[in-house]
Amino acid sequence: MRTAQRIIECHDGAAGLTGVIVIDDTTRGPGLGGIRMRPYRSFGAAVAECRRLAAGMTLKNAVAELPFGGAKSVIVDDGRIADRAALMRSFGELVAATRGDYLPGVDMGTTTADLRLVAQSGADVSCGDEDPSPWTAAGTHAAIAAAARHELGAASLEGVSVLVQGAGHVGGALAARLALDGADVLIADADPDRAREVAAAAGARIVGPGEVIGAACDVFAPCAIARVLSARAIERLDCRIVAGAANEVLDGEGADELLAARGITYVPDFVANAGGVIHIHALRSGWDVPRLAREIERIAERVTMLLERAGRARTTPLAEAHALAARRLHRDAHEEAAA
Ligand code: NAI
Repeated sequence: MRTAQRIIECHDGAAGLTGVIVIDDTTRGPGLGGIRMRPYRSFGAAVAECRRLAAGMTLKNAVAELPFGGAKSVIVDDGRIADRAALMRSFGELVAATRGDYLPGVDMGTTTADLRLVAQSGADVSCGDEDPSPWTAAGTHAAIAAAARHELGAASLEGVSVLVQGAGHVGGALAARLALDGADVLIADADPDRAREVAAAAGARIVGPGEVIGAACDVFAPCAIARVLSARAIERLDCRIVAGAANEVLDGEGADELLAARGITYVPDFVANAGGVIHIHALRSGWDVPRLAREIERIAERVTMLLERAGRARTTPLAEAHALAARRLHRDAHEEAAA
């Protein structure tokens, strides 16, 4: 049975802390998920985002066969935080009070230095000092290669055009991997310097950030912001495959079906971008790098399996990924789809 989301509100006026921890599911183990810190228009908006992200972590960890449940936390950055260390220690007390049900890592707006402060209050935290992004990029690369093999019959990515949206930690490393394959790499970033730097290193062509949707390519790899694929954006896409690292790529229910109706194969974001959580598990389990690389490559097997199942059952890869997660969580598949 699915466990109900636990929502822990975090308020400490003295430390300037306003935030929330959402523990979505601990069926498979402690709820693993990063601490996001950014401004929100309201506390309700912060809670809503945190709940969606926590549910996504449950799916990600279940599909990746990791011994983790799903959770997430959000700290509201109101621009007036005077003592960040005090805030992180105060937050750490609330994490410690979950008695291991919440296992935090870094996310947008937080660093490993913040995690060390959280740990000072007795909380177990999930990361070392190493950046997981190259491993996330490796997993996304494996997902793209598998989808291209399945959908385009491409034995390798040589000559396959891939548009990477976001030349950041993940997008930059992904572009470099694709260039090594001989792919035709296109890169877009809101920061023109960043785009130029990554394009020069990967021999990529630059696409304007406003021209991404509708740019012709074989594979669109969103690696920047959330919810880039609304119904309107999907109508304008000119690609065969969507497979990227950004969390929450789809904007709105049924977006996967709209993509399928247009003949575009969507690799679920939480399947493609699991390299980072696999890396966390590797660190905690003492895996060596070759073992980690092999486990990350298994993302390709999962993508192929989901695309085959979706083809046979005339469903979408997202529906198949939800069903797979549901089985691994011993949930009823219908309940999962509606969650
Ligand atoms: P990052 O912050 O290093 O890079 C994001 C890049 O996107 C920046 O260069 C930024 O200028 C650019 N950008 C922002 N808005 C844009 C827009 N509208 N159009 C084009 N470019 C835009 O972030 P990172 O770590 O590379 O993560 C990328 C995505 O992958 C995020 O959605 C993140 O949640 C997701 N992700 C990252 C993981 C990791 O290991 N870093 C793990 C799982 C998911």
